[in-house]
Amino acid sequence: MRIAIYPGSFDPVTLGHLDIIKRASAVFDKLIVAVMHNQNKVPMFDTEERMELLRRTINNLPNVEITSFGGLLADYARQQDACAIIKGLRAVSDFEYEFQMALANRKLNPELDTVFLMTSAEYMYLSSSVVKDIAVHGGNVAGFVPAEILDDIMLRTRKDG
Ligand code: PNS
Repeated sequence: MRIAIYPGSFDPVTLGHLDIIKRASAVFDKLIVAVMHNQNKVPMFDTEERMELLRRTINNLPNVEITSFGGLLADYARQQDACAIIKGLRAVSDFEYEFQMALANRKLNPELDTVFLMTSAEYMYLSSSVVKDIAVHGGNVAGFVPAEILDDIMLRTRKDG
């Protein structure tokens, strides 16, 4: 059984994330989408909410599991028996940071490889930060995030704004 982990903040999940989830789940037997708890960041959605938004989005993919983790990804991957970390690469600007993390993670857990999937061209510009910025300024994020979570973002933005 080849298990891969796709880690991230997913605050919130975007169509770019969903594209990577679908493609990675077609390559591995099981894909664990792991939402990182981060005490240092104030997220738009808390960990449970981010997991719920992801669950709603991926409901038709039987080999995808949604979890959360804190601490080191390399340790969590070992606990989960994962052989690979999945990362999406959008532009050259992502590369340097991702390369550094891939090498550090392999040093921490030599059985763990990082597999990079090139983003689909239509999502090159997309990130959760872009989505949040558009939403808090009253813009329409349909076409940026899965339709199933659009209302949650609009409600959250209205409540906070
Ligand atoms: O969606 P993000 O915020 O870009 O995801 C970043 C994430 C969760 C992949 C990264 O911060 C991470 O792996 N954090 C876990 C802590 C860790 O293992 N740090 C060392 C990496 S070299």
